Amino acid sequence: MIQIEKLRKVYRARHRAVTAVDGVDLAVREGEIFGVLGRSGAGKSTLLRCVNLLERPDSGRVVVGGRDLLALSGAELRAARRGIGMIHQHFGLLSGRTVAGNVAFPLEVMRMPRAERAARVAELLELVGLTEHAGAYPAQISGGQKQRVGIARALAGRPEVLLSDEATSALDPETTASILELLRDLSRRLGLTVLLITHEMEVVKRICDSAAIMRAGRVVESGPVRDLLLRPGSELAGGLFPLPAPDVREGATVVDVTFEGDSADRPFVSALARTYSIDVNILGGAVEQVGDGRIGRLRIELPGDPEVNAAQLAHLRDSGLTVEVHGAGARPGEGVRP
Ligand SMILES: Nc1ncnc2c1ncn2[C@@H]1O[C@H](COP(=O)(O)OP(=O)(O)O)[C@@H](O)[C@H]1O
Ligand SMILES: [Mg+2]
Repeated sequence: MIQIEKLRKVYRARHRAVTAVDGVDLAVREGEIFGVLGRSGAGKSTLLRCVNLLERPDSGRVVVGGRDLLALSGAELRAARRGIGMIHQHFGLLSGRTVAGNVAFPLEVMRMPRAERAARVAELLELVGLTEHAGAYPAQISGGQKQRVGIARALAGRPEVLLSDEATSALDPETTASILELLRDLSRRLGLTVLLITHEMEVVKRICDSAAIMRAGRVVESGPVRDLLLRPGSELAGGLFPLPAPDVREGATVVDVTFEGDSADRPFVSALARTYSIDVNILGGAVEQVGDGRIGRLRIELPGDPEVNAAQLAHLRDSGLTVEVHGAGARPGEGVRP
């Protein structure tokens, strides 16, 4: 649905140039929620603004719904933009207009006839659960309700794509959860493709089908969230399971095991201890709800060097677990599943 190829954007000031987006490739599938995760300054907003050409890239390609945006004429681009809605961290509502008036605004710009417009506004307010607040002004509603107005307004022109720039960053955790749920629900019901950027792991964890991690203008990893979390060495998993660098004792092997489901579903620790008659220490770990499933990571310690534990490590890998070995004898790439 969205293809970004070799995208580059440099901001030039008089004495310096900032490469905000430095050769990014991304593919967002139709109907999925794709999250771009990164710290402040990573280039996320610039990337997003290149997708609707609010920002003109220096080079690269942006293809949305089969249309190569950089090749379009002015009128064609305006039409293509109508298929791309956008929501923002600070909502961007018109304070002098009511909730209904804000949602009607893009429809007025499109010159939709009055009666049709009123019906469409009512439908949109229903969709985001704001029917009862149609006559309120932005100052009279909560942050979460303001973002619902923002979402209704973004969907007014029936876009196929919704871009979201930190849409929940100004909201408290509970309100964040309800807005994320709304986005997920809308994406499923309307077949809407959502490209969102965030600095919060929580957002990716809750609603994203796929994700990319961005740093210094580049994408460092991307793919379906589940695949990334189960990939050895994944930065996304490192963010979800922030275990410190282990302190590996002489003659011991520390292993991070990542698994799907609950650890109770996969009694691999007791199986390992029983099969090899060894003591297995549990050093830490967590199980996290990710989308509709659960993914866990457990850090365990086995007696003996990694070489001594070759059979045990193979046993874990053969059980379909993702295994990352820390230890004096651990070689690079040892964690990689065959
Ligand atoms: N309009 C601009 N002019 C100059 N530099 C900018 C502009 N917008 C962003 N930048 C710079 O580009 C880099 C990426 O910014 P941005 O895309 O806003 O990152 P993020 O959204 O991940 O915080 C930063 O170094 C930022 O200072
Ligand atoms: Mg930003």
